Amino acid sequence: MSCPFGKSMRVDSNTCPNDYTNGTNEINMAEHHPGLLYGEYLQLDKVLNSQLLLSNVNGHTVHDEHLFIIIHQAYELWFRQIIYDLDLVRTIFNNDENDETKMLEVQKRMNRIVMILKLLVDQVIILETMTPLDFMDFRQYLSPASGFQSLQFRLIENKLGLKQDQRVRYNQSNYVKVFGHDPKALEQLEASEEEPSLCTLIQRWLERTPGLEADGFNFWNQYKEITSRLLKEQLSEAENCEDSVYRAHLLSEYNKRKEQFDSIFDQNFHESLVQRGERRFSHKALQGAIMITFYRDEPRFHQPYLLLSTLMDIDSLITKWRYNHVMLVQRMIGSQQLGTGGSSGYHYLRSTLSDRYKVFIDLFNLSTFILPRNHIPPLTEDMKSRLSNRDFKGSSVSDTEVSQLERSVEVSL
Ligand code: HEM
Repeated sequence: MSCPFGKSMRVDSNTCPNDYTNGTNEINMAEHHPGLLYGEYLQLDKVLNSQLLLSNVNGHTVHDEHLFIIIHQAYELWFRQIIYDLDLVRTIFNNDENDETKMLEVQKRMNRIVMILKLLVDQVIILETMTPLDFMDFRQYLSPASGFQSLQFRLIENKLGLKQDQRVRYNQSNYVKVFGHDPKALEQLEASEEEPSLCTLIQRWLERTPGLEADGFNFWNQYKEITSRLLKEQLSEAENCEDSVYRAHLLSEYNKRKEQFDSIFDQNFHESLVQRGERRFSHKALQGAIMITFYRDEPRFHQPYLLLSTLMDIDSLITKWRYNHVMLVQRMIGSQQLGTGGSSGYHYLRSTLSDRYKVFIDLFNLSTFILPRNHIPPLTEDMKSRLSNRDFKGSSVSDTEVSQLERSVEVSL
């Protein structure tokens, strides 16, 4: 395929009546077409004239400050694209009904966000080509500018669903404070905190998972019954063990397992974990996620299952970015210097590596509750038909598209 900006076009001199081509068989479209040129369309005069080096003293600059600016600008451009795609996905999900014809669109956008994040994780190493000594040559000019003031980074966190009380306090105050001078930024931050986040919308969608209805297949009840039988078997095996030391070990294993399952079957227990910030999903959303995980081989659950994996990829890649950034910071300024934004620097950033910052932590923890395949409640004929593409009139997603997507997700990970 030719470049969309290619302004020259091959012509066949035998069929072209006028000779615009100077005998080269090419015409210069820039001279004949009224549209914008490459540089105009991309506004490169603005983009490429936005690298103002602060270390410029009497015309002499610190060479590496150029890279420092370029890399931050490249990050901000990619943040912008992430927000653009994330907003579209949130709009699609902001609906009381599941429109499964849109699932391919959702997965395409989410997959793109994953690809961009992978690039952003890797991009850190380019900045590592700058040595701490080179950085020191211009660091004094940066203060009080700091990545902590990246509005788009905060918008991404909020739009994904990171809540204020999950954040580590920065200099003993709210992260919003550094935007106090900028009413437009404050407005955007406020909106991003108030609008339903991706996490909220995903929960509403999971709550509508077909098969959860108490008067239908009632997956939760069946899962509970099977689990309770398995736990009873585990208890009786432990109690019948003749070796007293091993028996104590088995009983302790049983108690742990029982408590884990109580935490999802006992709704009050679950709510108390949500209150303590250890769980984020609603009780019903958790049920939907477990159900999709168990029956992911059924055609209508292919896309939802891929989506749940993609959400974990996003959390995992942002954590990897945080980690690479912390390592970069330690390499550049060590662990004792304050950041230019006034935080404790390395120590503050390290504290953001914890699970508190994982928006979809519940999906990671689902593995605790999976059962061996032979114990998964079998689907009824009715449920099998509900979860098959054959009987699903609204879906425009073909099996080929699903398997193509699955392949592209596998290749990307
Ligand atoms: C030499 C390279 C870098 C150093 C030494 C550095 C240092 C720091 C420090 C010390 C902080 C904590 C806030 C403060 O007190 O300033 C911070 C936060 C931050 N930096 Fe960097 N940084 C570097 C490169 C980057 C790059 C390339 C990006 C890309 C956008 C970036 C984005 C951020 C963000 C988003 C935060 C806020 C993180 C949070 O609060 O969770 N930084 N940086």
